[in-house]
Amino acid sequence: MMIGVCTHLGCVPLGEAGDFGGWFCPCHGSHYDTAGRIRKGPAPENLAIPTFEFTSETIVRIG
Ligand code: FES
Repeated sequence: MMIGVCTHLGCVPLGEAGDFGGWFCPCHGSHYDTAGRIRKGPAPENLAIPTFEFTSETIVRIG
């Protein structure tokens, strides 16, 4: 679970794309892996993980 906003300048990366099969941002060529870690390109940080909490054993509240 991650937020699909490139950490370079805010474009929306494409899923299941790029050199690592995760996310690829065509704006300036950032490649993220499937865990959202930046692997190649100008993006300075991994994709952001939203806040979440388990409200019970079967329910997760995101955001
Ligand atoms: S906005 Fe994604 S690489 Fe620049």
